[in-house]
Amino acid sequence: MYTQGLDSQGREPEAAPDAAVLAARFQARVDADEKIEPKDWMPEAYRQTLIRQISQHAHSEIVGMLPEGNWITRAPSLKRKAVLIAKVQDEGGHGMYLYSAAETLGVERAELIEQLLAGTAKYSSIFNYPTLSWADVGAIGWLVDGAAIMNQIPLCRCSYGPYARAMVRICKEESFHQRQGFEIMMTLANGTAEQKRMAQDALNRWWWPSLMMFGPPDDNSPNSAQSMRWRIKRETNDEIRQRFVDVTVPQAEALGLTVPDPDLQWNGTRGSYDFGVIDWEEFYAVVRGEGPVAKERMRARVKAWEDGAWVREAALAHAEKSAARVAAE
Ligand SMILES: [Fe+2]
Ligand SMILES: [Fe+2]
Repeated sequence: MYTQGLDSQGREPEAAPDAAVLAARFQARVDADEKIEPKDWMPEAYRQTLIRQISQHAHSEIVGMLPEGNWITRAPSLKRKAVLIAKVQDEGGHGMYLYSAAETLGVERAELIEQLLAGTAKYSSIFNYPTLSWADVGAIGWLVDGAAIMNQIPLCRCSYGPYARAMVRICKEESFHQRQGFEIMMTLANGTAEQKRMAQDALNRWWWPSLMMFGPPDDNSPNSAQSMRWRIKRETNDEIRQRFVDVTVPQAEALGLTVPDPDLQWNGTRGSYDFGVIDWEEFYAVVRGEGPVAKERMRARVKAWEDGAWVREAALAHAEKSAARVAAE
């Protein structure tokens, strides 16, 4: 339910403009870069696209806490532990802003969480890969959060106001995440031979999944064109992926590490790096839930939800008691 219909209660009903007029007005506002707000008229398909995208994004933040959460108890120093706890908490916060943004579109958070736990909702497939060593925490911050920033900066200008505004704060925090990851990689790459080997191994395993984070190639991304027209999306998957490669390859060079792609080379004509073919079979398999640790991730989320049931029940009971007390007074 959304409240649009309730606003007109008690007022004379005006002759409702027909759907084509409303749709044309909506598109004109989008084209003029006006923000669409929760109570504004919007096409149902726009609303559904946003609910799907924002909830998938929220789920990704929440599931994204798990691979690094695994390393909190094993961080190599007190400082690293404090930084990692802060980072994982930030991701939880991102999930909360995004569930709130989705709720402005008339969907209940509980319903979205149910979809995640039932396995019917998608989340970023990168979190279905395991974190095997401490260097993975560095590689995730550097590459996965780095890719997230590339994806999310254009979303700060998304046509839907609540989503765009949530992204501004999220991007600031993502940039801290990216730097802490790069700094871990820098420390390892300049450490002992064994530490450098760990850093290289983490880059080898996270490079290709990071490139997949931008989604399928443009010629196989059927909803992209509509999302661009609605200005939910501002750039195509391949454009953002290319920018990520161009920014990240020099960073790998600065670390003294090798990007695991024999076809990678600078293309002076294009002013960009050419890179090898992405294994889309692997991508679609992981999206289908066949990632190495997909089941483990879902078990962890279901357990967290069940373990937290008493907190939700206690909060509800407290809210009911307080309301009853206010009513009695
Ligand atoms: Fe995040
Ligand atoms: Fe992050």
